Amino acid sequence: MTTVGDLFPLLSLRVQAGPLELRGMLDEDLVTLAGLVEDGIHDPDEMPFFFPWTQAPKGELARNFLQYHWRTRAEFSTDSWVMNLGVWHDGVLVGVQGFDTNNYLVTRTGETGSWLGQRYQGRGIGTAMRQAICAFVFDHLDAVEITSGAFQDNPASLAVSRKVGYRQNGLRRLKRREGEVAINQQLVLSPEDLVRGEHELKVDGVPAFRRSIGLDGA
Ligand SMILES: CC(C)(COP(=O)(O)OP(=O)(O)OC[C@H]1O[C@@H](n2cnc3c(N)ncnc32)[C@H](O)[C@@H]1OP(=O)(O)O)[C@@H](O)C(=O)NCCC(=O)NCCS
Repeated sequence: MTTVGDLFPLLSLRVQAGPLELRGMLDEDLVTLAGLVEDGIHDPDEMPFFFPWTQAPKGELARNFLQYHWRTRAEFSTDSWVMNLGVWHDGVLVGVQGFDTNNYLVTRTGETGSWLGQRYQGRGIGTAMRQAICAFVFDHLDAVEITSGAFQDNPASLAVSRKVGYRQNGLRRLKRREGEVAINQQLVLSPEDLVRGEHELKVDGVPAFRRSIGLDGA
């Protein structure tokens, strides 16, 4: 029987690193994640994201979350794609690790972004999932550079980037919430600087995913 992942290869993609698994998300996974989002992924007075999507009221937040993920699927093309993978740790769905890019066939670069349910933070999972996505993108998708960014008042995200080997790459003054400016630290990672995790990657579904992003002469 044909599955949705046969038709849309992102959903069949799987990257394993020891107890960690990153994989394409089905709708039931999005529902679980929407519950984590509504339970909170940061303190209410903080805002770690460029676009302050977590400040929407409950109910609306879950629906916006689903719509964002459906939009990234609907708008997926070789010119512009987002690889959002669910993060399972010891079989429990704990958050999302993303890689977002435009004109990848020419630029071979893209931006990582991630979050974990608050109760799963501070145990090393954020570092392990970033190491896994970066190793995957360099080793299996032919990237030459990966970028990221974090507000200066987000020490956990900045610590993860530093531990994984990203270099600082300038500051930007951004509008964060309404009427609020915040300083964003830009970051860049080269393949030779990547600090790899302790587990070898095991991957599944890569040839079809590569074709779907235009590598290997789609
Ligand atoms: C950012 C995030 C993904 C990191 O995941 P995590 O599992 O919490 O991170 P880890 O446990 O692997 O590592 C966190 C590091 O930050 C450090 N850290 C956390 N809070 C800190 C603080 N207040 N001051 C200094 N360092 C801090 C920890 O000490 C740890 O470093 P260490 O292992 O060297 O001690 C997670 O915290 C999260 O989802 N935050 C909310 C959403 C978010 O900020 N997303 C990123 C947007 S740019």
